[in-house]
Amino acid sequence: MQKIRKAVIPAAGLGTRFLPITKSMPKEMLPVVHKPVIQYVIEEAYHSGITDILIITGKGKRSLEDYFDKNNEIENNIYLDDLDRILDELNIFFIRQKEVKGLGDAIRYAESFVNDDSFAVMLGDTITIPPCIHELMAVHEKYNAPIIAVERVPWEMVDHYGIISGADLERDDFLIEHLVEKPSPQSAPSNLAILGSYILTHGIFNAIQQTSPGKNGEIQLTDALNILNCQQKMYAHLFSGRRYDIGNKPDWLKANIELGMQDKELGKDITGFIENLCRK
Ligand code: G1P
Repeated sequence: MQKIRKAVIPAAGLGTRFLPITKSMPKEMLPVVHKPVIQYVIEEAYHSGITDILIITGKGKRSLEDYFDKNNEIENNIYLDDLDRILDELNIFFIRQKEVKGLGDAIRYAESFVNDDSFAVMLGDTITIPPCIHELMAVHEKYNAPIIAVERVPWEMVDHYGIISGADLERDDFLIEHLVEKPSPQSAPSNLAILGSYILTHGIFNAIQQTSPGKNGEIQLTDALNILNCQQKMYAHLFSGRRYDIGNKPDWLKANIELGMQDKELGKDITGFIENLCRK
């Protein structure tokens, strides 16, 4: 089986949950400890063996392209040097979604980039600890079919996510039966929520073409996946770690706390600070 070498990173969303900051900066550039969230996504892809990345941007996202230029001016900064080392080995391409028409519509722009059969999709505002795409690649080797990472969410939150229902397989895998984008808690088939890491196959592009506007009048990736699921077997995998949706304020803060406490340079200080606060 071919190894997965290509990743598509949708980063065109408006970031309305993070207004007013996102009036003039993309949510993918929000800092988490030392670096913007999109750098975590790129590093996760790089460390999982991805060599080619397509970032789908849109209006107001120019700073994402500038960020991935190599640094030629400032010397001796370990954070810049770390990023440059990765940039030396990756091919990063950009394309702009012409209008904000949903995640499914954004993925459509990747068709000519993806000539291999299977590719990764990683949302540009999502951090997973440990790296989720690496875990999905191992599951993909087992089934050689599209795989979607899921996590259990509280029932009252299911209307924030794509939800899957499926038959239990070994370990933490499911054979998908049905997918629905942001159902109400009353109509949701489960509380297994799509968390934003996928391994997809070329068939998704045909399925997107057949997809009518869904939730919020947008072309939803979840609806396209539901069409694809009628044509081929698809699997979901319950992610073993934690994921942070950085476009949402509590998750952004929590990610800063967890990663700040683990950080070599700042960890001791932040941990002491939090311990003190908790004693008050
Ligand atoms: C998107 C997907 C949804 C998924 C979510 C994960 O929704 O459409 O299926 O559960 O990402 O964060 P969004 O958050 O863009 O509304």
